[in-house]
Formats: sequence, structure tokens, C-alpha cells
Amino acid sequence: MCSGFVKPLMLWYNTNARDLPWRRTKNPYRIWVSEIMLQQTQVEAVKSYYNRFLTALPYLCDLAVCPENELLKLWEGLGYYSRVKNMKKAAILIMEKYGGRFPDRADELRMLPGIGDYTAGAIASIAFGRAEPAVDGNVLRVYTRLTGLREDIMKEATRNKIRWRLSGLDLPDGENWGNLNQAFMDFGSSVCLANAMPLCDGCPLKDGCIAFSEGTVRELPVRSKKADRKKEQKTVLLVRDGELTALRKRPEEGLLSGMYEFPNKEGVLTEKEALNFVREHGCEPLKITPLPEAKHLFSHIEWQMTGYEIRISQRNTEVREIQKEELIFADPEEIENKYPVPSAFRAYARLLRIRIGKKPRRRENEDSDSGNTLL
Ligand code: ADE
Repeated sequence: MCSGFVKPLMLWYNTNARDLPWRRTKNPYRIWVSEIMLQQTQVEAVKSYYNRFLTALPYLCDLAVCPENELLKLWEGLGYYSRVKNMKKAAILIMEKYGGRFPDRADELRMLPGIGDYTAGAIASIAFGRAEPAVDGNVLRVYTRLTGLREDIMKEATRNKIRWRLSGLDLPDGENWGNLNQAFMDFGSSVCLANAMPLCDGCPLKDGCIAFSEGTVRELPVRSKKADRKKEQKTVLLVRDGELTALRKRPEEGLLSGMYEFPNKEGVLTEKEALNFVREHGCEPLKITPLPEAKHLFSHIEWQMTGYEIRISQRNTEVREIQKEELIFADPEEIENKYPVPSAFRAYARLLRIRIGKKPRRRENEDSDSGNTLL
């Protein structure tokens, strides 16, 4: 079936497609990297990460052997770090099971860690020209409006229905599914906008759009409300010994696993409790200064943070050795270049002039003091 919207949508795409770095290649590894990065991140933000990642790891085999710390550092600031850990697992599998040849069918791709229906469809269609839909949020919005579908897009059954209906479409001669999928994406992010601000006046698809004719564009897509984020209180400690600041590694499992963080504890600590914490870690505190509050949103959790800077005079290495959560003292340049730190700590890193999630800069005798909170 060639639905009425396919031709005008592709015509629109032929003159309005964005020129994006991952559209200048058919290399499946590169397209995969872009699609995984784009899952939770805006196009503009992805561009620099994409280029940096592929400069560091130009081939699939480079990813398969990349040490986890380096990988997390390349991903630092993008969030959802399990994505890149799954990519490494998938890269190893492709090397071992497929001899390094990237699978070209959606059903094979779907078997790889971190690759679901969307990503499998995107790689199979964009890199290999296969007739596979790639149903992301833009496709759901554009499709439900064009067809007036009022089913809840948070339900898997609705998404499966849309995928199934799209897979039955015929494309005009000379067109391909990679372009159709990306046409939906670009159209959804520049014309058929979310948040009740679609640009219907100049829309080339409005004549065939059911939601436009019924006046329901702003009601679609139907989306049931997500559960509220669970709020968690934390006290973050910037434990400072001269130029050095304490980090510790997060556990190997769970949220932000394997990343490095400023030591912190559940709840809102008093100054006394914070000082006890550093003493328990073999440090002798000199001065404690309260830090501003900060907030960070994860998909299901909200961290509400408060903090202290604690200047210390000496560290007892014997005590450190028996600590389970051993503290690592590093200078700002080392933290920027070597340790992957989640952006949840960005507000506190900024106080030390440490940049998280950006290309590390070279420091030239830079003072890492945050100014007013220091001795
Ligand atoms: N979002 C996800 N994949 C994309 C792509 N290939 N082009 C633009 N935006 C996207």
C-alpha cells in the first residue's frame, strides 16, 4: 500500500533533509554509533560526541577492545551509560560470531545487546537499504497525527501496530526506507513539532492529515502519564588536599556503574557527619564550607543534592587501604582526561573548574580553586 502521505513526505525530505555527519556514510558501524547516541540526546549535542568517538575508535574492532574507562570517558555527558557498555558487548559478539561483518538484517541486529526494534530498523534501512521501519518518538507523533490514531503510544501494542502498518507501505520508485525513516525524523523535528506547537500552516502534508482536518493535532499523540521520578537526597563532598580532589569508583552494577564520582552519602548530612565521613576515610579535616544545592534528573530518579567542601591536611594511607570505598585523589587535569564522571556532578565539578562531558582542554597553570569557598 502506498499511503497518501509517503510521496509528499519524501518530496519534502528531498529538499529539506538535514546535512548530518552520519548521513554522509553508509558504514553500519558509524550509523549504529549515531543511532545509539541519538536515542536520548538532541542532534546538535550528538555531533561533537559522534566525531570524537569515531576519531578515537574508527572501526568496530577498536570498540571491541577499548578499555571500559576510556569508553565511558568518550561517553561522559551523554548519560545512559549502559548504552555504550552494550555497544562494546555487541562489538565483541560481531567480531566473534560474524567475523567482524556487521549483520545486515533487522532480526539478526535485534539479537545484539542494546539493539531493539528501533535501532535494528534504523541500521537495516539506513545502512543496508532494507524495507524496515524505525519507529521513534518523531515517527509516532507524525504517524498518529497523519492517521488520527488515538491509541496510547506508551503501550508496546500501539508501537507494534504502527510498525506493522508502516512495514506494509510501498515506496515510490527510486526511494528507499532509510530516507523514509529519516524523513519522518526530520519532519517531526522541524514541522510536526511536539509540545502543542506544530507548524500546520505551512505543512505540505496538511491536506491529507486526519488530525488537521479534525482539529485534534494538539491532542495527538495520546500518551499516558509516566510515573513521577523518585526523589533521592544526597550530600556530595568535595574533599580537597591542595590541588587534589577525592573521587571514588561507583559499584560495577546499577545506576552509573563503573563511573567515578565525588564521594557522597544518602540524605542531608550535618557538618559533623560530613567531617566524620572524611575521618573514617583516614583524612584529617582542616575546614568545611557548605556548597550550593543542585539537582539532577535521571529517567526515573531525581537527585536533590547538597554539599560541602572539606579541606584536609593529611591522609592516612593505612586507613585508606582498608577502606572498601577507596578514595582516589586526582588533580583537575587528571579528572578531566582520565576519569569518567557523570554529569549529575557537573554543578560541583564546575566549582573546581572541572569540565564534564566536553572535550578535555589542556590546562596552563590554571588555578583550580573555586574562589569563595576555599581557605
Ligand atoms: N534521530 C535518530 N536517528 C536520527 C537520524 N538518523 N537522523 C536524524 N535524527 C535522528
